[in-house]
Amino acid sequence: MQLPRLVDAALDRLVVPGYSRLGYAARRAGWRTLPSGCLAGRTILVTGAAGGLGAATARGLVGLGARVELVVRDQARGERTAAALREAHPGAAVEVAECDVSSLADVRRYAAEVRDREAAVHGLVHNAGVMPPERTETAEGHELALATHVLGPFLLTRELRPALRAGASPTAPARVVFVSSGGMYTASLPTDDPEFRVGTYSGGAAYARTKRMQVVLAELLADDLAGDGVVVHSMHPGWADTPGVAGSMPGFRRVTGPLLRTDDQGADTAVWLQAAAEPGHSTGVFWHDRAPRPTHYLPRGAETPQARAALWTLCVDATAGSAR
Ligand SMILES: NC(=O)c1ccc[n+]([C@@H]2O[C@H](COP(=O)([O-])OP(=O)(O)OC[C@H]3O[C@@H](n4cnc5c(N)ncnc54)[C@H](OP(=O)(O)O)[C@@H]3O)[C@@H](O)[C@H]2O)c1
Repeated sequence: MQLPRLVDAALDRLVVPGYSRLGYAARRAGWRTLPSGCLAGRTILVTGAAGGLGAATARGLVGLGARVELVVRDQARGERTAAALREAHPGAAVEVAECDVSSLADVRRYAAEVRDREAAVHGLVHNAGVMPPERTETAEGHELALATHVLGPFLLTRELRPALRAGASPTAPARVVFVSSGGMYTASLPTDDPEFRVGTYSGGAAYARTKRMQVVLAELLADDLAGDGVVVHSMHPGWADTPGVAGSMPGFRRVTGPLLRTDDQGADTAVWLQAAAEPGHSTGVFWHDRAPRPTHYLPRGAETPQARAALWTLCVDATAGSAR
């Protein structure tokens, strides 16, 4: 039975009930099972798929018949994850490709490789994530969370535009998903200092800022790619027990341990956004537990058109010389 909308919304407003395994359990009772094989014939790329929610997302997509490419920065670890997937799903098509999504040069190289060998890409999941313990710059001079969550995914999406366009059909759009976070509610767009050069740096603040940027970027890319038959969404996976949480938020994990979702529960909405009919009929939406969610709880928080335009300009300028 579907939860009443007000109860569902209240669970998220109260945070712990909505984001924990409690919220997942309360909501899944009203969900339809995704038809097996519903992703047959579709090629979907998942970044940061060697472990955590990325590997769980790949597992869910393979389970629905998709051909999945694990986009990882450590080939050997990716191969081990792929071997486990193939063992669990005999005959499944699972590929492994190496790409450091925080490196714009590596993203261009990887995207060119995909364009050369793939006739079409039907889905892309920007899952790779990081919470830097201290301010770190990439070789190209960008703050690491910004490069990993925003600049790299922006460039990869735009460089794969021809392949995504080829993966779209009048009845089935190609789908791009940003795995953002509920943590974005604590941040506004850092228009004046996107590289976090001003003030005392904190990995948690850089994380929340760039997760906010992902939600807005998904809306902007949704407009940019609408004419190509591509839908773009963002989502919050809830709180899930992963190596990332264990490594970056040990205190949080100690306190919330029993309430954390499994990685498969955390990956559920990312898989659903690639497979279900409903999200194919909309674009630029922020989701949690298979339902659209507000991107702000306080009306004054909404981004101005100038701030949105500044984010777009930041992405275009930082990745200049390659946009398609
Ligand atoms: N778990 C949660 O409760 C939660 C809540 C909200 C949002 N999220 C989001 O969910 C996503 C997955 O998080 P997780 O909890 O599964 O974390 P995780 O266990 O740390 O997984 C993150 C993955 O991203 C990969 N990665 C990081 N930087 C990369 C780069 N530059 N290039 C390629 N891959 C890179 C990591 O690769 P290595 O394996 O090589 O380190 C790792 O496999 C993140 O975007 C995170 O923000 C998670």
